[in-house]
Amino acid sequence: MSNIVVLGTQWGDEGKGKVVDVLTPYVDVVVRYQGGNNAGHTVVVGREKFVLQSIPSGILHPGRRCLIGCGVVVDPASLIQEMESLVQRGIVLDGNLFISKNAHLILPYHPALDRASEAKLGNRRIGTTGKGVGPAYVDKAGRVGIRMADLLDERLFREKLEYNVTQKNRLLRDIYDAPTFSVEEILIPYLRFAGWLAPYITDTALLLARWIDAGYSVLFEGAQGTMLDVDHGTYPYITSSSTTAGGASTGTGVPPTKIDGVFGVSKAYTTRVGGGPFPTELHGEAAELIRVRGNEYGAVTGRPRRCGWFDAVVGRYAVRLNGCEALALTKLDVLDQCDVIKVCTGYRYEGELLTEFPVEERIWAAAEPVYEELSGWQTSTAGARTLGDLPAKARQYLDRLSELVGVPFGLISTGAVRDDTILCEDSPLTGWFPALRSSLR
Ligand code: GDP
Ligand code: IMO
Ligand code: MG
Repeated sequence: MSNIVVLGTQWGDEGKGKVVDVLTPYVDVVVRYQGGNNAGHTVVVGREKFVLQSIPSGILHPGRRCLIGCGVVVDPASLIQEMESLVQRGIVLDGNLFISKNAHLILPYHPALDRASEAKLGNRRIGTTGKGVGPAYVDKAGRVGIRMADLLDERLFREKLEYNVTQKNRLLRDIYDAPTFSVEEILIPYLRFAGWLAPYITDTALLLARWIDAGYSVLFEGAQGTMLDVDHGTYPYITSSSTTAGGASTGTGVPPTKIDGVFGVSKAYTTRVGGGPFPTELHGEAAELIRVRGNEYGAVTGRPRRCGWFDAVVGRYAVRLNGCEALALTKLDVLDQCDVIKVCTGYRYEGELLTEFPVEERIWAAAEPVYEELSGWQTSTAGARTLGDLPAKARQYLDRLSELVGVPFGLISTGAVRDDTILCEDSPLTGWFPALRSSLR
């Protein structure tokens, strides 16, 4: 049985939710390892659409155990709302959902600080989701964070909250000129949340260790994407967690020696929400065409996503950093009508050709993408079930992307629903998930 990481290779919203949902039948456990309710993972089942924020996308498959690991930051009000909405739609959580005792809490002053900081940054603002994720990770690294286990200990929770509210109020009032909080207005609802969540809170690292020893297979579900990683992304235009493969280990307590593979998820083009560099960004009509066909509006904030061509420099960078052995390519259908499709193979900077993603902000601002043009297939890819069902030019596009990023594709997605998926034979997927062979058509 294999334990596999599934993560985004671009700036998020690559279709991780769909890919995790498609692969969940082949694993026993799905665990989220970082991020929080800034994530919006969409899963479409028949005519029903689910947007998962803090709960793993595997939850829609009955009997799969879904864990929220210690690397995740949890907003209890948002999580409870997500849980209630799933239960109302017939999803069973009891016995299937487990929350780490070590996961840090998002408290009401975190979104307040997030918004206040963004307002102060002016044109250098990040364009965050405003969910308080960054400030919650600041407190975690600063050793003043409050964890799930603390929430279950009323005396300790009150003590930590009192300290934090005093500090945060100073920041909010004196630095940001923003409204402050009283301890009681947070304490009372949070103690209610504690009662609600208590049955789900446990030592998830220990559970995972026992399950892995017993032969269960685990899928690690990444949120956001490689280019938003706190270390390896386009800093400071990033989210505040380790979105890359290493985060799967630190964010769950499963040692790297127990992780068997990494499966990256890419869109057939690129999108980004919020500020920061985006070398292949398109503007005007060209961007609008992709945005409309791909319905590129944020699942969490509803913001229009910035759209551009596939960037193979980013693709190679993500493959190298994460050790991806294969990729899933989603939303191929969105390019169905294009007559010409461009792929970025490098950047031109001060007369030099760069083929590795640069670290310097000054280079991002001035780097010009170098494109290769491929001719579009201009036929529908909807309903394709095997690679052979795809138009020849679509296969050529896939072959060229795979050659440029240096790894094969294991899954191609041509629509939001489960059925619009091609599982590729002769890819690492069949080794990771032997039962998947019987699903190959
Ligand atoms: P995630 O955050 O990586 O899970 O991605 P999002 O859910 O934020 O965004 C992906 C969007 O594309 C969702 O609305 C999905 O339902 C949709 N989607 C996923 N795969 C495909 C596909 O192959 N084709 C089309 N047209 N839509 C897809
Ligand atoms: P999923 O998991 C796309 C972006 C925000 C902003 C930056 C920092 O659905 O792919 P934050 O609120 O995290 O401090 O914002 O990161 N961002 C995402 N972009 N998909 C996401 O999640 C994102 N989560 C955060 O737009 O630019
Ligand atoms: Mg998303």
